[in-house]
Amino acid sequence: MSNLKEALNPVIRIENLTKNYKLGELSICALDNVSFSVDSGEMVFIMGPSGSGKTTLINLVGGIDHPTNGTIEIIGEDIAKYTDKELTLYRKKRLAFVFQFYSLIPTLTARENVELTLELTLRKRRNISKIAEEHLTLVGLEDRMDNFPFQLSGGERQRVAIARALAKSPDILLVDEPTGQLDQKTGDNVVSLIRKIAKEKKKTVLLVTHDHELECYADRVIRLRSGQIVADDTNSLLSSTDEGTLSNAANI
Ligand SMILES: Nc1ncnc2c1ncn2[C@@H]1O[C@H](COP(=O)(O)OP(=O)(O)O)[C@@H](O)[C@H]1O
Ligand SMILES: [Mg+2]
Repeated sequence: MSNLKEALNPVIRIENLTKNYKLGELSICALDNVSFSVDSGEMVFIMGPSGSGKTTLINLVGGIDHPTNGTIEIIGEDIAKYTDKELTLYRKKRLAFVFQFYSLIPTLTARENVELTLELTLRKRRNISKIAEEHLTLVGLEDRMDNFPFQLSGGERQRVAIARALAKSPDILLVDEPTGQLDQKTGDNVVSLIRKIAKEKKKTVLLVTHDHELECYADRVIRLRSGQIVADDTNSLLSSTDEGTLSNAANI
């Protein structure tokens, strides 16, 4: 893939994506003919009520589930056609995930949690401890690197998960309900921090949330209902002035 082609095409191009789950005789349509594109460096939120297909969509883009129909073009390649082995490589090379429940290993410190992911994903293992330290500093945990998850608050644990996700330098960050376990203010700080770092590092972000108060951090909001897109709106309130305000919020 040439750099030119990567620069010209959207990073994510979803076309006529459908996912049906079979439960015995029953077929559940979780996604119904969904199409949209995401440009490089864009921060797109997926919103909608419980059961509307948000996680299904993230899982399909994340290559951890196969679609029933449609195209999932990521940087010019249709991953819907990938074998499981190709999907594993794709996840390793292109993606990072942040989940609601942090998914940290409880017997490893913050630093070791980040280092372990780097050991599993980076080909060159030379600067792993330096990269881990840099990213934990970036999320404001420079003094807590040697703490275990149980010694950290929910917000701090999610910061470790963000550091771990970004340390492997993914093209796309997939985030599913990152504030589900957090109070409003902490959740707000976490999403504001994701935005700040994603913009600095020019990462493309797909973030699922049902919290309307967080919409201000999105470049664009795609709304799902019963597996269909019912709205796809650019955040017109966001201006370059807001970017400064949003960045400041991350430092609180
Ligand atoms: N593995 C599965 N097997 C069967 N049905 C599923 C599965 N995963 C999700 N669903 C169904 O698909 C629909 C969409 O679910 P989901 O994507 O998890 O929604 P959301 O994340 O918006 O709450 C729901 O009706 C849900 O019950
Ligand atoms: Mg969900």
